[in-house]
Amino acid sequence: MDQAGKPEKKDKRSPENAHLARLHAARARAEGGGGPERLAAQKAAGKLTARERLDLLVDDDSFQEVDLLVETRAADFGLDRKHPAADGVVTGFARVAGRPVCVFSQDFSVMGGSLGLSHAMKICKVMDMAVAAGVPVIGLCDSGGARIQEGVESLGGYAEIFYRNVQASGYVPQISAVLGPCAGGAVYSPALTDFVFMVDGTSHMFITGPEVVKAATGETCDFETLGGADTHSRLSGVAHFVAGSEHDCFRQIRELLDFLPQNCRETPHAVMGADDPRRESETLDRLAELDAKKAYKVHEVIREIADGRRFFEVHKGFARNIVVGFVRLNGESVGVVANNPAVLSGALDIDASEKGARFVNFCDAFNIPLLTLVDVPGYWPGLEQEHGGIIRRGAKLLYAFCRATVPKVTVVLRKAYGGAYDVMSSKHIRGDINFAWPCAEIAVMGPAGAVNILYKAELKAATDPEKRREELAREYVERFASPYQAAKHGYIDEVIEARTTRPKVIRAFRFLKGKKAERLPKKHGNIPL
Ligand code: HXC
Repeated sequence: MDQAGKPEKKDKRSPENAHLARLHAARARAEGGGGPERLAAQKAAGKLTARERLDLLVDDDSFQEVDLLVETRAADFGLDRKHPAADGVVTGFARVAGRPVCVFSQDFSVMGGSLGLSHAMKICKVMDMAVAAGVPVIGLCDSGGARIQEGVESLGGYAEIFYRNVQASGYVPQISAVLGPCAGGAVYSPALTDFVFMVDGTSHMFITGPEVVKAATGETCDFETLGGADTHSRLSGVAHFVAGSEHDCFRQIRELLDFLPQNCRETPHAVMGADDPRRESETLDRLAELDAKKAYKVHEVIREIADGRRFFEVHKGFARNIVVGFVRLNGESVGVVANNPAVLSGALDIDASEKGARFVNFCDAFNIPLLTLVDVPGYWPGLEQEHGGIIRRGAKLLYAFCRATVPKVTVVLRKAYGGAYDVMSSKHIRGDINFAWPCAEIAVMGPAGAVNILYKAELKAATDPEKRREELAREYVERFASPYQAAKHGYIDEVIEARTTRPKVIRAFRFLKGKKAERLPKKHGNIPL
């Protein structure tokens, strides 16, 4: 019988060719997605098709598809007659920039890329393959969510994926590119992965759509405001990267992969010869001489230190008071965490703490050493922060740094005040090598606050309180707001000239390459969530 239920015509060719013909027909049907009209609609919506995406992402001639011929087993709502092509998802393994990966690409032209059980099990199969082979998983998501016709089977299918996301977490890198809608509980698979990419204008992620929001809360919004790339990269922090187009998205994924190892048992590959490891920087000297109250973008410092002045920033638009991303130092992949004085004076707040913690966790899981650049006046004060849980949520960054056992090199550039000094990979929480610039101020609090508390009575009695306050502040700066107290106690290994930062940190990481750190035998810690 053929798909329409009619008896199949006898193939007059040789039996061998008849087999081939059948294979070719089955392939063509499954590869055809939702058919020319729906594929054209996909293009008209400004999106590429599931297979075009894979063609662009993976190396030429490297894609091995699996489960092309898998079909849904569901029969309700006429699904047994519909035979959704490849059940709406293309899965397999391939190479990306020469590196083996497992991939899946949801096909919106087939029932809106909705996820039924077979669709889910195809994704699960390549996730299992990725774990077995120790290779990253890249998911290209474009789906209307749980396939309504398959009911609880599709919910179960999602749960199977979520479970695998968690099992694979910290074992192989997982990357999600949201290239269309991603609604309801479906958002939790990307959310459980390490990095989420979105494309400006065409990607949307939300738990409930605008209509439900309106009905439930009375708020009016469109898809873009609710869950577009800008919303998730700037406000919610769900998306780590925004791309201007799908082409740009795949280029960025390749760039990201280059900094990562294949799995947690490996280290990232090195790219040698890009820059002189002894290169010094006059720009850093100039930055170190800036007035302590002047803002600057910490990106400048990062670029001066990095090979080829190249910095691949992660979570660029979110919590910009902390900057995280990857550089190469003498060819080795290194994760950078840096306070950014250009935004909120570089103070730590809830979002910055969570952003930093997530990045530190990732680097530690995948053997990527951490360079921490400190210029932090403290935690951002205010009711909003306290009521929002800065105590609980701010503790995440502290927890992540304390737990991280990868080589950790810290440079205090300027301010390192209060608890934030401790948090930012200080010696006390096992920073391995800690440097400070000569202009660094390491103290419990800034001069103004300290003088007001320490000399309250004296200032009250002074004939010219303002003059006396200034004198006392100068004394305080001289005695405490410097790196020398910390250096005296060995909490700073060396006070370095700013210009020498690159050679110094490269030498430190080279020394730390063989670092082995044991953890206490326990099931797992209890990070404050
Ligand atoms: C079955 C679906 C579907 C779904 C879309 N389609 N979503 N079929 N199950 N979840 C089908 C449509 O019926 C349509 O088929 C085709 O896909 C294209 O959909 P359109 O609506 O025409 O496309 P568009 O206008 O671009 O809108 C896309 C959309 C919208 C925004 C995604 O389809 C939509 O709102 N879908 C439902 C989203 C949602 O609420 N999903 C469930 C979330 S709950 P025809 O044949 O008519 O062209 C969830 C739970 C997961 O996912 C839980 C995990 C724990």
